[in-house]
Amino acid sequence: MCGIVGIVGHSPVAPLILDALKRLEYRGYDSAGVATIEHGQLSRRRAEGKLVNLERRLKEEPLDGMIGIGHTRWATHGVPNETNAHPHFSDGVAIVHNGIIENFAELRDELTADGYVFTSQTDTEVVAHLVARELARGATPVEAAHNTLKRLEGAFALAIMFKGDEDMIVGARNGPPLAVGHGESEMFLGSDAIALAPFTNSITYLEDGDWAVVRRNSIAIYDMDGNKVHRKRQQSVGTSFLVDKGNHRHFMEKEIHEQPEVISHTLAHYLDFAGGKAKAFEMPFDFASIDRLSIAACGTAYLAGLISKYWFERYARLPVDIDIASEFRYREMPLSKSSGAMFVSQSGETADTLASLRYCRSGGLKIGSIVNVRESTIARESDAIFPTLAGPEIGVASTKAFTCQLSVLASLAVRAARERGAISADDERTLVRQLSEAPRYASQVLKLDQQIEKVARELAQVRHVLYLGRDTSYPLAMEGALKLKEISYIHAEGYAAGELKHGPIALIDESMPVIVIAPHDRVFEKTVSNMQEVAARGGRIILVTDQKGAKHATVKTMETIVLPDVPELIAPIVYALPIQMLAYFTAVFMGTDVDQPRNLAKSVTVE
Ligand code: G6P
Repeated sequence: MCGIVGIVGHSPVAPLILDALKRLEYRGYDSAGVATIEHGQLSRRRAEGKLVNLERRLKEEPLDGMIGIGHTRWATHGVPNETNAHPHFSDGVAIVHNGIIENFAELRDELTADGYVFTSQTDTEVVAHLVARELARGATPVEAAHNTLKRLEGAFALAIMFKGDEDMIVGARNGPPLAVGHGESEMFLGSDAIALAPFTNSITYLEDGDWAVVRRNSIAIYDMDGNKVHRKRQQSVGTSFLVDKGNHRHFMEKEIHEQPEVISHTLAHYLDFAGGKAKAFEMPFDFASIDRLSIAACGTAYLAGLISKYWFERYARLPVDIDIASEFRYREMPLSKSSGAMFVSQSGETADTLASLRYCRSGGLKIGSIVNVRESTIARESDAIFPTLAGPEIGVASTKAFTCQLSVLASLAVRAARERGAISADDERTLVRQLSEAPRYASQVLKLDQQIEKVARELAQVRHVLYLGRDTSYPLAMEGALKLKEISYIHAEGYAAGELKHGPIALIDESMPVIVIAPHDRVFEKTVSNMQEVAARGGRIILVTDQKGAKHATVKTMETIVLPDVPELIAPIVYALPIQMLAYFTAVFMGTDVDQPRNLAKSVTVE
């Protein structure tokens, strides 16, 4: 969602804030703004659209000042324009905000009745006015912030600056993350450690309900009752990553190409290749004694979880309930202590996934989570974490995080299978060997780029695409459709091939490409029958299969993308790549903003 930065520094802070915002732009890019205290006065520059517009504004009219706050926005309340861009001001108070103030309408009515005039359509502006009203009533800035926080409902992170105090920013967290960075006679606030990486890697993460008074030489953290609390200071890992595109046109392209390497790192973390075993490391629950595994996640992470259901059930004979987290959190599923709970999240901050985790925790379940950001809230609230070693993922559409999630889940499924006595030592050795081959096959698939680009040129001409698959290729069909619509804005749907005749077959005509994901696996023949049904109705088929599949598919296709023959277990990992590449090249042909597609954000910390 939105990104927040604050600096109490000892040199002009606006350029530094802009630098940090660039690292946070993946969180939102509808509009952006910076405010500083310049010659004793609050000043701000705001701009609609991408950060380059704000950068231009700051070049035209630079901001001075050694203290400041900045924001990159993903709109929730109010259209993305300059008036709604943060920071918001009210009588000497400046505020940036991430999240949603749920009781904002009630607060706005109350403040309007008190004579406060709203200049934006945002929920944030109520916070600025509330703080200003507290000051007008005689509160000190710190009291004003604290009293205001007590009135707010919802999930939010805030940074507040006061005209009369050039040595203080108040930060607060209730839901979305906020970190304090410690410098030499300077302090920082940021939505994540990556934003603060150029300044410091000494970080204190605020907990939910914390608020902090951040000054150049001190930081004090309080709970909502105003009691001082201690939060440990830690060295942030991963902040030294250089976040750039290298020789690639887009982060997404770079991240697709990094997959052989990061899948390999991730698998090596969980598997003992030489010994042919899944490694034993700390587990939140015992695979041998649980009778179900509950998995919840959002977006692409949910689809990784859905693929793993096939693996856990097939290899480990462990039943899996898999849910979209935004549904799971409210559907009042009865929890049994004999279940394990697992959450999958690249960012580790997705609000719905976090709420689902807390629901399971309140039911006494032990929690494991698969996260890419090890210092994230989901990681910190889990009994054990299973990191994906994908490195920072910047492209909004998830690629390498997905295949790393699959790598972790497959490794855990093998371990569960062993511990539940569902496979022999020989079986385990075979499965581990098969997984070890995934990076090599992934590299081979990257070489199909020219053919995939040719298919993408065709896809860029159409408005609707259907993806079909069975077994683990069914979630992959959904992932293919998700990727395509996210970045190319072409409408796409992923369906279980067997469901075709129950509805989507009505859509089939010569203008509708149907992408069929069908490795030559246990259900291949069934999928071929479904392809026949498409072909009989004039549908244009793009088949993604392997050498055996290409030989045995008896259907005329518009194009067949032939992958190497790979073991069934690793097919979803390997087949993810052509699916991603197809979406990527199509988006490039469509001329969309691949890394920052419209309306989307990388880390979704609101409901
Ligand atoms: C957003 C991103 C997706 C991601 C989903 C879940 O929608 O654009 O790429 O899959 O959130 O995010 P998480 O960080 O929990 O994996």
